[in-house]
Amino acid sequence: MENRSTLWWKSGVVYQIYPRSFQDSNADGIGDLQGVINRMDYLAKTLGVDAIWLSPFYPSPQADFGYDVSDYCDVNPEFGDLATFDRLVSAAHERGLKVIIDIVPNHTSDQHPWFIESRSSRDNPKRDWYTWRDAKPDGKEPNNWLAVFGGSAWEWDEKTGQYYLHSFLKEQPDLNWRNPEVQKAMFDVYRFWLDRGVDGFRIDVAHYIMKDPELKDNPKNTDNSQGELKPTGDYGSIVHLYDKGHPDVHKIYHELRTILDTYSPPRFSVGEIHLKDWNEWASYYGKNNDELHMPFNFALLVAPWKAQVFRKIIESVEKVTPPWGWPNYVLGNHDEPRIAGRYGPDKARQAAMLLLTLRGTPTLYNGDEFGQTNVEIPLEEQKDPWGKRVPGTGRDQNRTPNQWTSGPNAGFTAEGVTPWLPLADDYKTVNMEYELKDPTSILNLYRKLLSFRKLSKALQSGTYQSIDPVPQECLVYLREFENEKIIVALNMGETTARLDLHRFGRLEIIVSTGMERAGKVNPSLIDLSPDEGLVMRVI
Ligand code: NOJ
Repeated sequence: MENRSTLWWKSGVVYQIYPRSFQDSNADGIGDLQGVINRMDYLAKTLGVDAIWLSPFYPSPQADFGYDVSDYCDVNPEFGDLATFDRLVSAAHERGLKVIIDIVPNHTSDQHPWFIESRSSRDNPKRDWYTWRDAKPDGKEPNNWLAVFGGSAWEWDEKTGQYYLHSFLKEQPDLNWRNPEVQKAMFDVYRFWLDRGVDGFRIDVAHYIMKDPELKDNPKNTDNSQGELKPTGDYGSIVHLYDKGHPDVHKIYHELRTILDTYSPPRFSVGEIHLKDWNEWASYYGKNNDELHMPFNFALLVAPWKAQVFRKIIESVEKVTPPWGWPNYVLGNHDEPRIAGRYGPDKARQAAMLLLTLRGTPTLYNGDEFGQTNVEIPLEEQKDPWGKRVPGTGRDQNRTPNQWTSGPNAGFTAEGVTPWLPLADDYKTVNMEYELKDPTSILNLYRKLLSFRKLSKALQSGTYQSIDPVPQECLVYLREFENEKIIVALNMGETTARLDLHRFGRLEIIVSTGMERAGKVNPSLIDLSPDEGLVMRVI
C-alpha cells in the first residue's frame, strides 16, 4: 500500500521553469540550463518548492519555442548540453528537488530526421510514422480538421503529392502513434531521460496522440465552449471529437505507466489535458491506478473569480478523482495570461493562498511568486507564432524574463544585452531581491505559505471539506489530517464579509494574505476585507 504522505508528487509543490525566460548565464539574452543551476538555491531554500518542471530545452528550430523538437535526446545549444543537463539534475537532487521534464509526443519539428525521411518519398520506411493522406478528388484537404494555431490541420506536400497532419503549426507534424515503431521510438525517448535520472514527465497535449483511425470529419460546434486550450479563431467552430482523445490513447498511457513503474522509486507523469467533461478528464488516471499519475487540472484557471464557481469546481474535482488518484490545481503557466495580470495584485495573493492550501498538487509558474504581470508587446514585435496568426492569443506577454533584481535587465541577463522578450516596466519594484526585503511582499507570502505547508500534514495530504454556511462571496474550507485541522477562508467579493466559525472552537491565524494578521481570533466574528484570505489553525 503506497504511503500518501511520503509520495513527493502528492505532498510537494511543483514549480514550472520556462528556461528561455528564467535566467541567462552566458549573456545572449536567452535563459539557459546553467541559469537554472545558478538559481537552484533560490528554488530549494529561499522559495522552498519540491520539484521543478522544465519546459522543453531540446534542439529545435523554435517555430513554437521548443514545442517543435528536432532531437528528443539532446539539449539545444542555446540552453547548454547534456553535461549541463546532468549537472542540473545533480544540483537539484543534492538539494532534495525533483526534476520533471516536458515531453512532446504528439508532434515533432518538421526538421526532425524522422519527418525529413518521412516526407522524402511515399515509400520511405518512415512514411507511416506521420499521417499522410491523398487530397479529395477536388484537391481539398482529406477532412475538416483544424489546427489549434489557426487554419487547416493539413499541409500539402508538393514533392510527394499528399497532405500531412499537424494539430498545431505546419512546422509541427503529428506523429502517427498507431504505428508500433513510433510507439517504440517514443518509449525509448522516455527511457533515455529516465536513465539520466529524471523524476517524471509533463506530457504535452497528452490526449492528442490518438485520433480516430478513419479520420472522420468533426461535427460543427454550436456552443463554442469546449474548454479547449483556447477556443479562439476558427478552432472553436468544430467539436474536436475525432481529432484527439480516441479511447485507444489509454493503452499508450497504460504502457507508459508500466515503464515508469519499473524504475525505483517509480517515476511520475502528468498530462496536459484540457477537457471540459470531468469524467473523460478523469479517465486518464486509468481504471486502476494504471495510467497517468495526474491529468493537469486547468478548470480554475479559466473560471470567473467567484467563490461559488470555484467551490463548484473544487467539489467536482473532489468527486471525480478516483479513490487512488490525487487532485491537482494550476493557476498559471507559459500559455496563459499571468495571474496578477488576470486578477490584479490583491487577488494574486489570494490565488497563492488557494493554490497552496487545496487538496492536491499545486503547480506554480516562474515569476508568479513575484507578482509579475502581463507585458504588453506591440503585435509587430511579438514572437509567439500563435499570437501572430490568431489575434488575441499571444503568449509572449506571460513569458517575459524573470525579474530577479532592480539592477540592469532585472538580473535576468547581463547589462547591455537585449533580452529575447522585453522586461516589464515594473521590474525595479517587482523582483525577488526587492521583495525579499519587504516582509509583506507577495514573495514573502508565497514563502510563508510554502514553509507552513511543509509542516502541515493537513495541507499536504488531509481531506477537503467545504464549510457552510458562509457568506456567498466567501470560499471557506477545512483541511484535516488526524487531529490537525486547518481552515482556509477567502473573501472573493467586493465588500467586507463576516464569518462565524465558532463551531470549530478556538482558532489562530497562521497566514493572512496581507501578512499583517496573526494569532488568536474570535471565531464567532471573523471579518474578512475584500480580497483577503486567512489560513487558520483549530487550537
Ligand atoms: C501545449 C504547450 O503548453 C504549448 O506551449 C504548445 O504551444 C502546444 N502544446 C503545442 O506543443
